[in-house]
Amino acid sequence: MTTTRWIRWVLKPALFTAALVPVAYLIWAALTGNLTANPIQELEHETGLWTLRFVCLTLAVTPLRRVTGWNSLIRFRRMLGLYAFFYGTLHLLTYVVLDQFFAFQTMLVDVTKRPYITVGFAGFVLMIPLAITSTAGMIRRLGGRRWNLLHRLIYVTAVAGVVHYWWLVKADERSPERYALAVGVLLGFRLLYLAWKSRSRLAPAPAAAGGRTPFRLDAERDASLD
Ligand code: HEM
Repeated sequence: MTTTRWIRWVLKPALFTAALVPVAYLIWAALTGNLTANPIQELEHETGLWTLRFVCLTLAVTPLRRVTGWNSLIRFRRMLGLYAFFYGTLHLLTYVVLDQFFAFQTMLVDVTKRPYITVGFAGFVLMIPLAITSTAGMIRRLGGRRWNLLHRLIYVTAVAGVVHYWWLVKADERSPERYALAVGVLLGFRLLYLAWKSRSRLAPAPAAAGGRTPFRLDAERDASLD
């Protein structure tokens, strides 16, 4: 089997299925009464954590690609990003439907007066344009460069997610610290790479790339995903 077919028929379906396991587990646990004594809080915690994990996994694709040279990893990025949005939506729905029971007045006060909710809300809102523009058609319509610029909003979402988490924990800060470290390393890698690229005058290489920047090439490769 060629690498392309292997990715398309084996690896992508496997990743798609694996990413559904947390939500399947939560549904099973909710239906069988296996969530903790405070099931709503547990759902909020789990969906929040999975949102942040998928944001981190999405951010890990580019560094891994650069370190390993396995460029096909780009083919998993869109799916990971959409799963981040999926779990973010479940997280928001848990808050709106189960926690607040559609009390929009209270939620408005939360969003405007409780800093950790404000930051979490901003992080989620910034994911909406990313999800909307994730289709191949939108990538083509926006053009690779603009699409890549827009999709850097994921960096803001990642930082917002960590700050949101940090501000909401009351005692043990080890877990938000670990996520802060992960996001710091993933964003720091990009800064180092940019610095290294400009120092070694590698970026952008018009002749090799046919006058196109590597950023555009990335987005075009995304656009060709199935
Ligand atoms: C739509 C906006 C959001 C709202 C209204 C919201 C609200 C909440 C609430 C009420 C909690 C539980 C707080 C507690 O137990 O005291 C929570 C936890 C959490 N949220 Fe959010 N959130 C939002 C967006 C996000 C985003 C975008 C991320 C990640 C990128 C995120 C990650 C987390 C994490 C990691 C937790 C903590 C999980 C734990 O305690 O183990 N949230 N959020």
